[in-house]
Amino acid sequence: MCGIVGYVGPKSTLEVLLGGLKRLEYRGYDSAGVSVISGTGLETRKKAGKLDNLVNEITNHPLSEAHIGIGHTRWATHGAPTDGNAHPHLGGPTAKLSLIHNGIIENFSELKAELLAAGTKFASETDSEVAAHLVAAEFEKTGDLPTAFVNVVKRLHGAFTILVIHEDQPDVVLAARRNAPLVIGVGDGENFLGSDVAAFVEHTKRAISVGQDEIVILRANEIEIRTFEGAPVAPVEFEVSWDASAASKGGWSSFMAKEIADQPQAVADTLMGRLESDGSVRLSEIDGLSTEDIKNIDRIVMVACGTAAYACDVAKYAIEKFARIPVQVELSHEFRYRDPIITKNTLIVAVSQSGETMDTLMATRYAKEQGAKVLAICNTQGATLARESDAVIYTHAGPEVAVASTKALVAQITAGYLLALFLASERLAAGCDATDEATLRKLGQELLKMPARVTNVLEGLNEVRALGKEMANAKSVLFLGRNVGFPVAMEGALKLKELAYIHAEGFAAGELKHGPIALIEEGQPVIVIVPSPRDHDSLHPKVISNIQEIRARGAKVIAIAEAGDKEVANFAEHVIYVPQCENIFSSILTVIPLQVFALELSGAKGLDVDQPRNLAKSVTVE
Ligand code: M6R
Repeated sequence: MCGIVGYVGPKSTLEVLLGGLKRLEYRGYDSAGVSVISGTGLETRKKAGKLDNLVNEITNHPLSEAHIGIGHTRWATHGAPTDGNAHPHLGGPTAKLSLIHNGIIENFSELKAELLAAGTKFASETDSEVAAHLVAAEFEKTGDLPTAFVNVVKRLHGAFTILVIHEDQPDVVLAARRNAPLVIGVGDGENFLGSDVAAFVEHTKRAISVGQDEIVILRANEIEIRTFEGAPVAPVEFEVSWDASAASKGGWSSFMAKEIADQPQAVADTLMGRLESDGSVRLSEIDGLSTEDIKNIDRIVMVACGTAAYACDVAKYAIEKFARIPVQVELSHEFRYRDPIITKNTLIVAVSQSGETMDTLMATRYAKEQGAKVLAICNTQGATLARESDAVIYTHAGPEVAVASTKALVAQITAGYLLALFLASERLAAGCDATDEATLRKLGQELLKMPARVTNVLEGLNEVRALGKEMANAKSVLFLGRNVGFPVAMEGALKLKELAYIHAEGFAAGELKHGPIALIEEGQPVIVIVPSPRDHDSLHPKVISNIQEIRARGAKVIAIAEAGDKEVANFAEHVIYVPQCENIFSSILTVIPLQVFALELSGAKGLDVDQPRNLAKSVTVE
């Protein structure tokens, strides 16, 4: 899960590469490097740490003017984040070849042994350097760079996007892709390569996704794509739907702060064109599934990781409630390797912001092999998950740059609600048991009001901001919720762990008395997501009892409750109110104070909220 950028064309290559790396830094930020080919040959600069370190290095040791180059921002897998392990890696005894790699070469030990036996000297501990030396040696033998390149990549096992340039071929960038993302940016007299479109969107919105086991031979005026077996591939262009400004901070203190503020739009854009004013849902994206197919679904398995998995947990409540289809939520990595039961009537719903999470890709590939249909909920156009699924519901959250997911989550939850209403309506039409049409329409109309309510939540967060700052020294925070409040509690804890590096756990409030209540001691902060008291089957009284149980043992309670809930104030030190809505949709609102709490607490500790330690935005290794 590194960021990769390549360029060939008349612009200042260094500017293009550094601009691309800045936008890709969310993918990894342990070290960064660039190589360019200038009139005097191949030049490389690389440095451990964030991109700024590389920029300083280049300021101190400038690069010559060049019109071709490659750049890399790293999330370490093989070898610590040091200058030496930073990419690019040089290949061959004369070091004329430069290579960058995203992914893991699983058979690198065997290949390295072969190179060591032949006397190759290594400058790093990485798996990637092996590929650099192999391509350089193969080029010596064949004299043809694309042939040498493909001969080597065919020998590699695992996941990789690899870019190569060579001093003796100063007009071409080669790229190969297997199980890792690669997109081409199509320019006029110039072309680009990137791990995703963010790498080049400020220069062109024309893009081509590169398929599995394909290589790209890229020149300023020519794009050639071939399979590893040499068959030509016809490029399919698409238009990037957002512009560069969407991926810049726009005056906010951090990308995360901006992305939290983007949430009303993310929800509205995800609903747009799918939810009519009468509350009916149209999901033309899944037209491929006939009413008969939907009738035959006997189980839905939702696969995802991290925050996306919590979006699935929320969707489960809605799908089961409205469409009466059993839903199982699975962490992709656990699902894939436990011989799960999948039949042709199982619908797999894979949820991923990036669409490149390797665990989720492996889970969906496995499910497809077993004959299941896969529906993706994905935020990234042209992502691998979208390409490999039978149908895609795109969330329209726009680019999410901060490592901690916020607007992508609310968009995923929104898409999950849409799916639930759609499936319910289709099942009803097919004569199955489901919520009646009039209720579904009413729910659809309620969902249309959610963007305005999200705005409302964002306008009333001063108390949460203050609490986040005040609690900067907290050692542990617990989160409790029930029903859709339970995944929200889990998400609140995850946000705090990843952003503020403090112990945080989310529990189902009803589970507390089965063990976790032993954690409560005097002064323990507990954030409780309180359900609406208005439903006739509301869990409100039960959550109030849970609060009383922990308060009796010294907990300090911060409640996230619905406007008008007067009772809760009697049982909590602080109450953060969110607007009233159907309880099932409340997750979109109650999660926002928790995002802001984590953001503020992290800021108060002086931490980097956009790039927390040890993490990367897209986890493209298993
Ligand atoms: O791109 P994805 O949605 O597949 O990513 C899944 C998780 O890696 C991601 O949600 C992660 O948990 C976030 N850092 C949480 O904020």
